[in-house]
Amino acid sequence: MEARVTAHARYTVADIDKRLYGSFLEHLGRAVYTGIYEPGHPTADESGMRQDVLELVRALDTPVCRYPGGNFVSAYNWEDGIGPKSERPTRLDLAWRTSESNQVGIHEFAGWAKAAGTEMMLAVNLGSRGLDDARNFVEYVNHPGGSYWSDLRRKNGQADPWNVKLWCLGNEMDGPWQVGHKTAVEYGHLANETAKALRAFDDSLELVVCGSSHSDMPTYPQWEATVLEETYDQVDYISLHMYFENYEKKTSEFLALPEKLDRYIGTVGGVIDYVKAKKRSKKNVRISFDEWNVWYHERRSDAKRMKEWDWPHAPVLLEDIYNFEDVLQVGCILNTFIRRSDVVRIACIAQLVNVIAPIMTAPGGAAWRQTIYFPFQFASNYGRGTALRLDVDCARYDADIAAGVSYLDIAGVHDGDAGTLTFFAINRHGEEAMTIDLSVEGFGKVRSVEHTLIKHDDLEARNTKDAPDTVAPMKVEGATISSNGVQVTVPPYSYSMIRITL
Ligand code: AHR
Repeated sequence: MEARVTAHARYTVADIDKRLYGSFLEHLGRAVYTGIYEPGHPTADESGMRQDVLELVRALDTPVCRYPGGNFVSAYNWEDGIGPKSERPTRLDLAWRTSESNQVGIHEFAGWAKAAGTEMMLAVNLGSRGLDDARNFVEYVNHPGGSYWSDLRRKNGQADPWNVKLWCLGNEMDGPWQVGHKTAVEYGHLANETAKALRAFDDSLELVVCGSSHSDMPTYPQWEATVLEETYDQVDYISLHMYFENYEKKTSEFLALPEKLDRYIGTVGGVIDYVKAKKRSKKNVRISFDEWNVWYHERRSDAKRMKEWDWPHAPVLLEDIYNFEDVLQVGCILNTFIRRSDVVRIACIAQLVNVIAPIMTAPGGAAWRQTIYFPFQFASNYGRGTALRLDVDCARYDADIAAGVSYLDIAGVHDGDAGTLTFFAINRHGEEAMTIDLSVEGFGKVRSVEHTLIKHDDLEARNTKDAPDTVAPMKVEGATISSNGVQVTVPPYSYSMIRITL
């Protein structure tokens, strides 16, 4: 099969906000306890943070990490996680029916984030709590001193404020499963009043209001319209979430799902424009896609197990073991965000460690990279710069979710400072190799090209503790420089990163 792709220096989408490659850590299962934090682990530092995990996180170069939830945040008292550890209460976490020891709180997470080289993106509880707790939390985190909450932070060992800029106004408040679920009008009003209070403290904060939990929610997209009508002047982003499932084991249908993601983004972009026009506003609200990933491998059995258990602390939960097929899907999802980077400014892979995550750990033992670690790492490391509006000419197939799905899923990024063009390409054809004729115009001379491939003949191949490199990227030869670009041949069902030095 042949595909022709044209990139032109003048045809651009947007300068990508590096926070498109954000991540997420929730107090859920083993994400925090025995994930990032495990005192006594051979690699743990004096604060109990696992250095083997930190090393894998640093290599992802994820610029922002959302915390502490997720569903967890909707019944969380942030004050439980401050002060001497021995005095912190154990609480029942209503979201996941577990016990929360509060041994990790804002101080520990802030220390971890600094060591990981990532900014904090914090969520306030607008489920069981409200405006008052939100403003207290922000004061605790961001005020230098001389007030009740900031002095308490100083007393607890942190003299300087953390100056967190990005704040989520609750989580998935459209979901009936959420503690303190609200209607769009109720939530919109609360979010607006909370945002006003936070802005009264610091107008430069960036605030994220909750959009839909997914695009099959019965309230979507009216939820976005109502919530934005209530909050438009006070917020900067509306959050969207989406998880991808393949219960039917039909790869072609699974890999077409990013079309649905694209429609979701397009629709919400339209709703934002509608509210902007209605309000005669000059301001642009953008999308923070702050939860996304493949999630289905353990989902149904987890839901069943949770009903039966007796409030365990840090149980195995949502520990999807990803396969090679998921590499292709994660690649297509990230490409969609790059192509939509004018409206999607922030996105967070959900989650980072153990819980539907690219990094896995064994308690007391190793940490290793799941298959999906690699497409995320490549996008985060090399997908910075200007997103290109590509012209793609390739055969297409009809899927249930959309007609005319291109067998080639591709996104391109120009990094002017580094003098590189990077393309992320997924061949969605299961039998045919694809020769991609990549013509690059207006960028100057192509000096060299490098092709990194992720391919496995078994779509179900996984990385495990004992076989951590079953699915791994490899450098391949064969890409050639042509008169106006490069030519690369990629195998069926494969992920490629093609890097051109100019
Ligand atoms: O990431 C797992 C859960 O998915 C989060 O807690 C929630 O926000 C979403 O429903």
